[in-house]
Amino acid sequence: MRRVACLVPILTLAWSAPLAAQSAPDPTAPLVASGCTGCHSLDGAPNQGPTFQGLYGSHRGVYRDGERVTVVADDDYLRRSIATPDLEIADGYDPGFMPHVSRDDAEFDALVAALAAVPSSTTPASGTWWPLCLGLFLFVFGHLALSSAPLRGPIVARIGEKGFSGLYSLVAFAGVGLVVWGYPLASYYLIFEPPTWTRWIPNLIVPIAFVLMVAGFTTPGPTSVGQADRAGAGPRGIHRITRHPALWGFALWGLAHVPPNADLKSSLLFLGVAFLAFAGMVHIDLRRAARPDDHAWEQYEKQTSVFPFVAIAAGRTSLVWKEIGIWRVLAGLLAWAAMLHLHRLVIGVSALP
Ligand code: HEC
Repeated sequence: MRRVACLVPILTLAWSAPLAAQSAPDPTAPLVASGCTGCHSLDGAPNQGPTFQGLYGSHRGVYRDGERVTVVADDDYLRRSIATPDLEIADGYDPGFMPHVSRDDAEFDALVAALAAVPSSTTPASGTWWPLCLGLFLFVFGHLALSSAPLRGPIVARIGEKGFSGLYSLVAFAGVGLVVWGYPLASYYLIFEPPTWTRWIPNLIVPIAFVLMVAGFTTPGPTSVGQADRAGAGPRGIHRITRHPALWGFALWGLAHVPPNADLKSSLLFLGVAFLAFAGMVHIDLRRAARPDDHAWEQYEKQTSVFPFVAIAAGRTSLVWKEIGIWRVLAGLLAWAAMLHLHRLVIGVSALP
């Protein structure tokens, strides 16, 4: 696939070379004429190479001799990138794709000037947004609506628990499918240029989020599926810190990813997940509280808190480190380390600061 995709820019290059002789009023014309736009978009759209939109003057994460450094995309950097493309590899891209072409000074100057003239990210977001937005809407509100008492009860009465699970999965899959399909269709739109230090936010918070998720999923408790009657036993382990550990994990994971990305479509995705997690906490609590005579839950709510450490600080329960289980912490950190390692492969960008 890669090889075939490479042919397109090369053919564009060959076809457009004669056009280069004609001077065009568009300042970015040299980039089109030299075939650069076969691999680099001018509007933020993804392609073989990084987009030129917002490139000039921005901070770039590049690999130089295998080490990640941040550079400013000034005239010098751009000239180096064109003359010796494999010297510095833009983060998330592979070496060896950008063609080496020998040029004279005037040609270099023209290309650099053209790069500087590419409109920056203030151009309005375009592309097709409805599949991404509809997918997120289905995923978030489908989850919440289907598990709400007024919908769940009647549906289960009609099609049974199994049928309900099927419907639930169907809605979730439709949402995820639309998001996966729609994500690349929506164009990239940078809300603000994120400072490099924001990359530390997920690197510090996501390990905690992973531990919360692992501990949340593996600690038996009354908010887990099918364990509603566990409230009577009182909180244990991670539930003494918060009664919704796994949901906190998802919320923190989502929120922590927004600042270093700072673009519209990924922010929508991350905030959607975080919103669903927070709404889920409120929703589960409300549903349980609505059951008449559920004194065990009433008691459990008093002994725990939604916000981490609040019940402990108020003296309504005490922190028992041993109950959390060191293996849960280690498993969470291990899962995080694996994801950090795979980040570049799976997501396309390195997650390291
Ligand atoms: C066959 C595809 C291809 C073509 C054609 C191509 N490039 Fe690239 N270019 C890439 C890839 C892939 C990268 C990222 C890897 C790297 O940094 O070398 C890149 C990186 C760059 C960078 C660094 C961008 C950054 O985000 O830091 C600049 C600048 C650049 N190219 C300019 C040009 C110019 C100017 C032309 C036309 C003369 C051109 N490229 C033609 C594939 C291509």
